[in-house]
Amino acid sequence: MIESPAASLSVVDAASRRRSIRTFVQQPIPREDLEQIIEVASLAPSAFNAQPWRFVVVEDAALKAKLAAAAFNQRQVLSAPAVIVLYTDIVDTIANVNEIMHPGLPAEQREQSVTRIVGFLQEKGEADAESWGAAQGNIALGFLLLAAEGLGYQSSAMAGFDPEAVKQLLGLPANVRVNALVAVGKGAEEGFPHHRHPVSRLAKFV
Ligand SMILES: Cc1cc2nc3c(=O)[nH]c(=O)nc-3n(C[C@H](O)[C@H](O)[C@H](O)COP(=O)(O)O)c2cc1C
Repeated sequence: MIESPAASLSVVDAASRRRSIRTFVQQPIPREDLEQIIEVASLAPSAFNAQPWRFVVVEDAALKAKLAAAAFNQRQVLSAPAVIVLYTDIVDTIANVNEIMHPGLPAEQREQSVTRIVGFLQEKGEADAESWGAAQGNIALGFLLLAAEGLGYQSSAMAGFDPEAVKQLLGLPANVRVNALVAVGKGAEEGFPHHRHPVSRLAKFV
C-alpha cells in the first residue's frame, strides 16, 4: 500500500478536476513527489502483469528545450518543471520476465507462466508485440494523469511528437514505443471545462 498524503484527492475528485494544463508555475517538483506519481502510475494493471511501461523524467532545461523541438514546440514542454516520457519496452519485458512473476508463485507454476507469456509475445511477432505493450502502457498513462492530479499537480498528455527524435534524444532503444510525453507541474491556468459525451451516448445497459 502506498501511503496517501493527507492532501490527496479521491479518484472521483482527481478525475473530475483533471484538465489538460499547458502553463505551469516555474517551480521544481520535489523528487519524492515525482517518484510517488510514477509509483502510483505503476499500480496500473496489465495483462499477465507484464508492466512493460518505463519512464524518463526530463527536468534539465537544455534537454527540455530539445524535447520541445521534438514535440513540435508545444509550449507545455518548456513550461513544465518536469516532462515524464512514458514508453513501453517489450524486448526488456521478455528479457526480464522473471521480474514480473509474483514471488508467492510455486516454482513449477512460475516456469509455466514464463513459458506462456514469452510464447504469447514471441508468437505475435515484433510489431504486434510492441503494439500490445503500448496498449498496456496507455493504462499506466491514465493512472499517471490521475496520480499527478490526486497528489496536487496538474498535467497534460501529448501524443504530438516525433517518436524517433524523442528516442534518439533520450538514448532509448530502437524497439521501444513512446506512448506519451506528460508535462507535470503546478498549474498556472484553469484549462478548459470538460466537454464529454453523456453516459447515454456511450453505454448500453442490456
Ligand atoms: C494520449 C493523449 C495525447 C494528447 N496529445 C496532445 C498533444 O499532443 N497536444 C495537446 O495540446 N494536447 C494533447 N492532448 C490533450 C487532449 O487534447 C485533451 O486531453 C482533451 O481535449 C480533453 O481535455 P482535458 O484533458 O482538458 O479534459 C492529449 C491527450 C491524450 C490523452
